[in-house]
Amino acid sequence: MYEQVSHSLLNAILDDLKPEIRRQDLRHFYTRLGANFYAIYSLFFTLYGHRVDFKAQMLRLVETMARGYIDRSAELERIDIEREQDHNWFLSQKWVGMALYTNGFADNLADLVTKTAYFQELGINLVHIMPILMCPTGKSDGGYAVSDFRQVDDRLGDLNDLRRVAEEFRKRDILLVLDVVMNHTSDEHEWARKASMGDSRYQDYYFVFDNREIPDMFEQTMPQIFPESAPGNFTWNAQMQKWVMTVFHDYQWDLNYSNPEVFIEMLDIILFWANQGVDILRLDAVAFLWKKIGSSCQNERNAHLILQLMKDCCQVTAPGVLFIAEAIVTPLEVIKYFGEDAIIAKECEIAYNATLMALLWDAIATQNTKLLYQGVKNLPAKLERATWLNYVRCHDDIGFGFDDNDIRAAGYEPYAHRQFLVNYFSGQFEGSPARGMVFMRNETTGDARISGSLASLAGLEAGQENNDQGLIDAAIKKILLLHSLILSFGGIPLFYNGDALGVVNDYGYRDDPGKSDDNRWIHRPKINWDRAELRKKQGTTEYSLFNAMKKMIAIRKETSAFADFNNREVVEVDNSHLLCFIRFNHDRPSERVLVVANFDANPQYLDLYLLRSRGIDPFGQFIDAYSGGKPAQYDRRIVLQGYQFYWLTEI
Ligand code: GLC
Ligand code: GLC
Repeated sequence: MYEQVSHSLLNAILDDLKPEIRRQDLRHFYTRLGANFYAIYSLFFTLYGHRVDFKAQMLRLVETMARGYIDRSAELERIDIEREQDHNWFLSQKWVGMALYTNGFADNLADLVTKTAYFQELGINLVHIMPILMCPTGKSDGGYAVSDFRQVDDRLGDLNDLRRVAEEFRKRDILLVLDVVMNHTSDEHEWARKASMGDSRYQDYYFVFDNREIPDMFEQTMPQIFPESAPGNFTWNAQMQKWVMTVFHDYQWDLNYSNPEVFIEMLDIILFWANQGVDILRLDAVAFLWKKIGSSCQNERNAHLILQLMKDCCQVTAPGVLFIAEAIVTPLEVIKYFGEDAIIAKECEIAYNATLMALLWDAIATQNTKLLYQGVKNLPAKLERATWLNYVRCHDDIGFGFDDNDIRAAGYEPYAHRQFLVNYFSGQFEGSPARGMVFMRNETTGDARISGSLASLAGLEAGQENNDQGLIDAAIKKILLLHSLILSFGGIPLFYNGDALGVVNDYGYRDDPGKSDDNRWIHRPKINWDRAELRKKQGTTEYSLFNAMKKMIAIRKETSAFADFNNREVVEVDNSHLLCFIRFNHDRPSERVLVVANFDANPQYLDLYLLRSRGIDPFGQFIDAYSGGKPAQYDRRIVLQGYQFYWLTEI
């Protein structure tokens, strides 16, 4: 498309570029800038076109991209070009991820390098290292309150250590994922300090107000994220004598993206990390990027425009780098973070599938799949070149944010059902083996979330404490069942540190004043590597879990039908304890896998007669890819043990 206004502006900008930038070999950069410029210009204009300094800001934006490109190494540029040619590379079933805190997995970044063999032993080839940047002690929100976006926390190492991690990962074909906390900074960040001291340029980086008038208006429609430990969305700053917007904790200041300088600063930071060899950037709390009075200040259209602009700019400089959207919102909203009205992702290529995660936990608690089916069926179709991050546990709490209509359709009353789930996972429900903790009960709305490690929520902690082998076995089966589903559903499975070893809750956070008001620390444990050796000793829980996971991962990697090309058909069956879907190879649709999972503690059967319309022979013969054997079958029924799953292929 030839668009005069944007093209003449582009020419003017190129004339104005600083001489040291003009002199470099920018061939690929110019090609990509030319291709993306109309989109970049239009988005930047929509967001900032009303400002008198629009053109000057636009020039700074292009300079930032150009400088980022000049700093990009030849090796990274080679990878960019490779990925541009093989643009579906991340949809492959070969990727299997793990998220970890550096000091929960190793002593520091240097020590992490020495432990990478563990990833390969298990089959992990995508590692999300949780925030590693400078954070004030005790006011860090687990690393999500950054005080310097370019400095590694010296307790973990320095930039050279991180580069070594990136190199080591690249050698072993492991993708590196790091966070960029886009929505807010720590109150000790230089920008916030300058703002506190009265510098109005930096006050414009945030939302600051002289009195409560506007904050009170915002509060009328904004929900609370941490109602127990950080009520309200604004904090009084005595030094500045002003109120500042702090949606998360009072020490996390929300950045103001209606200021183009903020956007350009954050783009610069994103490109900086892309140039350190990061393959995928996790963009934190993206739903919150735009604030509008009268709204919940989540999922605003301009938040999407900011992300589209970020993607377009990043593609010019570092096109091989992907974005993960961390937006823990309803399915209808989350799907928009891939980009609306697009075929390929134009915002983030990957998004957390929080809906599936919460639905899986619902099925564990209820031992039935009524809500799970409802939710999976209503999961909107996603774009062709975009994928889910499927997970069971992560470093955050579990919220039961299902659609109320889905809950009703499953036959429950929404409020009572959520209460049941909270009671079940906090072990207050009679007979529940779960050992979670209630997180952030909101007395006004009645809402509450759950903290706890996978093993403890599945009943392993209770089983081990009471020496109850039955409970232990059931917990192991539940853990494997959940993992079998995130491995086969479609998308990138993301395990959490310790979950392949059955690591239970860590109550040590209670003694640390910087952590004691946040029970999410219960599920951010440190691996005990002596104990982890038990994964090599037959008969231990560690052995059972680790080896089963390792086997599942290896099978996933060999099963083309598990790649993510919108190649899943959900199958309704007449047994409400089962979840059943078909995955097929998108190149050869006859090559398919029938996934069946039993959430009940008791044996259940699947009537194959109901699968006739899917072309499955009710009297056909099957092989279970996981066990390597034939499933128990009689008549036209396939039988599953309590908490068993199958990955069936027809023979
Ligand atoms: C993200 C993180 C969470 C943190 C929040 C605020 O959602 O996952 O741990 O509390 O952002 O930074
Ligand atoms: C909310 C936010 C999410 C954050 C979490 C932390 O669910 O939507 O971004 O990670 O709170 O508990």
